[in-house]
Amino acid sequence: MKRYILMHGDIRVALLVLDQVSGAVTAVEQVYETAHVPVGIPVRKGVIDRGVLNQWWSGRAIPASRDGIRRALAELNVDSPQLLPEKCLGLSLSDQYWICPADSALSRKRIHFFENPFSEDVGYILFGKSSAGRRISLMSPDNTTDGWLKKRWTVVDGKRCLLKGGSGAARQEPYNEVLASRICERLGIPHVSYWMQTEDGYPYSVCEDFITADTELISAWYIMGTAKKPNHVSVYQHYLNCCERLGIPGMEAAVNRMLVLDYLIVNEDRHLNNFGVIRRADTLEYLGAAPIYDSGTSLWFDKPVSLIRAAAKMCCKPFKNSHEEQIRLVTDFDWIRFSALHGIAGELRSIVKGSLFIDEARCEALCKGLEQRCGMLEAAAISAKKTVYMDDAASDVKKDSPYSG
Ligand SMILES: Nc1ncnc2c1ncn2[C@@H]1O[C@H](COP(=O)(O)OP(=O)(O)OP(=O)(O)O)[C@@H](O)[C@H]1O
Ligand SMILES: [Mg+2]
Repeated sequence: MKRYILMHGDIRVALLVLDQVSGAVTAVEQVYETAHVPVGIPVRKGVIDRGVLNQWWSGRAIPASRDGIRRALAELNVDSPQLLPEKCLGLSLSDQYWICPADSALSRKRIHFFENPFSEDVGYILFGKSSAGRRISLMSPDNTTDGWLKKRWTVVDGKRCLLKGGSGAARQEPYNEVLASRICERLGIPHVSYWMQTEDGYPYSVCEDFITADTELISAWYIMGTAKKPNHVSVYQHYLNCCERLGIPGMEAAVNRMLVLDYLIVNEDRHLNNFGVIRRADTLEYLGAAPIYDSGTSLWFDKPVSLIRAAAKMCCKPFKNSHEEQIRLVTDFDWIRFSALHGIAGELRSIVKGSLFIDEARCEALCKGLEQRCGMLEAAAISAKKTVYMDDAASDVKKDSPYSG
């Protein structure tokens, strides 16, 4: 057991006891600054809900389902990914929370990863490299980056960048990330720009950190945890209601844009941790929606060529069970310049050109499917003008905890 102060930037939030065998918070001995407790973690009469705090803390760790994690843990000589966040004092490149040993007076300015160097040892090991008996430093933001795809942080021209791989035989996710950024660019949707990189023959997407030393990403899951959802209120409406109560500007328009993109690319995994909002960590001022990120699980990424069809029934998240239903939540299509999508199939073709993983037949099927989705979006926009959609909770995604696996 070890005592730590949960810090938010330079602000002391709470005194915690961490179990070094399980990595869990076993006690919260004191709360110093309720306003700075992570969003969505209930504090009642000055007492933090320890169950939700532990869910938040374990959500900072690499999931046990991460591609290649078992081998990497063996190489690192660490029993569980839950133990890794403590090794880097909980510091991350997506927010400003960290843990300071209670008996030390560490200065965050001198250790945080946004402006200080960090070790890439964990990243290399997560990418299958061996430590070759060298001493390994675990001061790495990779310890506190979730998601199931293989990934690592690196520094390119002084900028913090996330490299992320693909899955299965087609390794399609990185190409999809790049395509999604190009669609966003064409439609004027605020987004994270992704580009391609090849490492050891495998395709990866690369993007810059969209968080700075002053800001942080708060996922929709935690925004929605700020209030209980009444049964009759839909998940979509609950999200917008929570954002409004917190005073987050521009959220309806931002959600419209995300839903349009996800309809076009048939995104199957826009779970509640794959979108969110940004706030300033020191003033707690909400700045608005986070730019679109993590759109790779789309375009029939895990389907054989024979099943790549624009109208195929595909999984849909986060609000409705089907893409047909979810696109009807969009309250305004007038901002879309459909002509900007002309030639998008050609752009996809150039992104996958030369891929060892996506052959000609797959590429052609994807291009055809994508073009048809553009037509379907236009039809959905026309139909929305003619009919009024009444959202209700009946067709909602029922359980979408990003932590339930
Ligand atoms: N550019 C970025 N800047 C800051 N934080 C980021 C960035 N990209 C991703 N993250 C953080 O890293 C986490 C994992 O990244 P991402 O969602 O892209 O991975 P993934 O493996 O595709 O996830 P999933 O399990 O949802 O498929 C995100 O939830 C987010 O907190
Ligand atoms: Mg993700």
